[in-house]
Amino acid sequence: ENMSTPYERIGEATLNKLVDLFYNHVGQHPDLAPIFPEDLTETARKQKQFLTQFLGGPTLYSNEHGHPMLRARHLPFPITEKRALAWLACMDQAMEEVELDSKLREEIFSRLVLTAKHMINSEEIET
Ligand code: HEM
Repeated sequence: ENMSTPYERIGEATLNKLVDLFYNHVGQHPDLAPIFPEDLTETARKQKQFLTQFLGGPTLYSNEHGHPMLRARHLPFPITEKRALAWLACMDQAMEEVELDSKLREEIFSRLVLTAKHMINSEEIET
């Protein structure tokens, strides 16, 4: 049986590269950029910490920030289904760019789909 965690399989260097590429896309995405800070350095730092523990690595995020309470921490931002899909599209692109092994990629992405859907807190507004 394979006991290694997704974190061990992706490795710190690739995870960090993935997060940096991901926020490059987020910063350029017309539906996402408006709700994110202009400077994504600190956002990326926290996401590296979070994904490390989310994927079974050391609890870097909780050690510094306490319980993630991710849905609560996202409530200040209007997260629509459209934005959740945009977030996932940015992640999918970044995963393509780091050339993740397809089985690991699918395993991580499917967990992120569930988390992204859980973050939705706003209805789309038709204009
Ligand atoms: C923070 C948007 C999904 C993890 C944030 C911030 C925004 C945001 C605007 C604040 C950035 C800042 O002030 O630095 C979104 C949108 C999502 C989404 C639109 C679409 C569904 C996710 C998912 C995860 C996640 C799926 C985890 C896998 C985080 C973390 C932070 C964060 C760890 C930092 C929280 C903190 O301040 O400590 N997100 N997010 N987000 N997001 Fe998301």
